[in-house]
Amino acid sequence: MNASISTEEYLTRTALDIEQALRTSLPQGWQIPSRLREALLYSLEAGGKRLRPILVLTAAEAVKNDRSAAAAAMPVACAIEMVHTYSLIHDDLPAMDNDDYRRGKPTNHKVFGEAMAILAGDGLLSHAFYAVAQSAAYGVAPQTALAIVADLAKLSGAAGMVGGQAADILGEQGVTSLDELEYIHLHKTSDLIVFSVTAGARIGGASAEQLDALEEFARKLGLAFQVQDDILDLIGDESKLGKPVQSDVQQHKVTYPYLIGMEQSLALVARLTAEAKHALARANLAMPERLQSITDYLMERDH
Ligand code: IPE
Ligand code: IPE
Ligand code: MG
Ligand code: MG
Ligand code: MG
Repeated sequence: MNASISTEEYLTRTALDIEQALRTSLPQGWQIPSRLREALLYSLEAGGKRLRPILVLTAAEAVKNDRSAAAAAMPVACAIEMVHTYSLIHDDLPAMDNDDYRRGKPTNHKVFGEAMAILAGDGLLSHAFYAVAQSAAYGVAPQTALAIVADLAKLSGAAGMVGGQAADILGEQGVTSLDELEYIHLHKTSDLIVFSVTAGARIGGASAEQLDALEEFARKLGLAFQVQDDILDLIGDESKLGKPVQSDVQQHKVTYPYLIGMEQSLALVARLTAEAKHALARANLAMPERLQSITDYLMERDH
């Protein structure tokens, strides 16, 4: 994409491309109970920043230095947005964070009821793997698609995002240590970001050394992203965030501001961002500029 456009413009345009692809990702001809289809599309089409799929496309292009790599990566970009959206639907359930508002709309269970919200999440998770399988038709080599399937299963599952969510629920204020909090954030949030960057990079043809450096880049970026999310829960603006503030406080969550204070949390976001950019430089990509500017942009984000 035109290198002269601003980061904000790039994010907006790329999100629109992704939304277009998401709209047709669930085959029209499939017989799905209409209430379930509605529930699933309600959250998938509700908006959001589309950060993870943007990272898939941007990483593919950054490695290959060719727009065609981003086009080939679109099914995988849709897949990670499905997994992320499922994780948000379940995260908001009364048994978890009990939130009523997400992406500027009532949460899935508020509209469709808890049972349908659970099932919409389940449906999105399964469909993500179907989307990855579709990538072969977009020119992704079968062995690359297979590596991506294994990564998605591991990084979204019990050793990944689900493990982080479980640790988040089990964590207690006054009991959880800084190491345990880092485990929670690395898994509930960094793992899907690691998936996004490395899957895109695989499609772009990254070497083992590049994948290794990009994994570190994404781990730090994801951690910075979640610390910033914790900060915004306290000082953010609900209308910009599209979700309630003070949710962590109400749920007695262990967060970085809770454990180390606001000032140190802000400093940590800056330090992690610098470390992420250092790892990105180590990857020695053909076209790293967009990933660099997205990293800087996220440190300043207010939503
Ligand atoms: C929210 O993710 C959940 C976290 C891991 C912090 P995002 O902030 O990316 O949410 P959307 O996709 O923009 O709604
Ligand atoms: C959510 O973390 C992480 C996942 C959904 C995997 P949070 O619970 O902090 O996310 P928000 O603040 O509700 O978006
Ligand atoms: Mg949560
Ligand atoms: Mg939550
Ligand atoms: Mg949060």
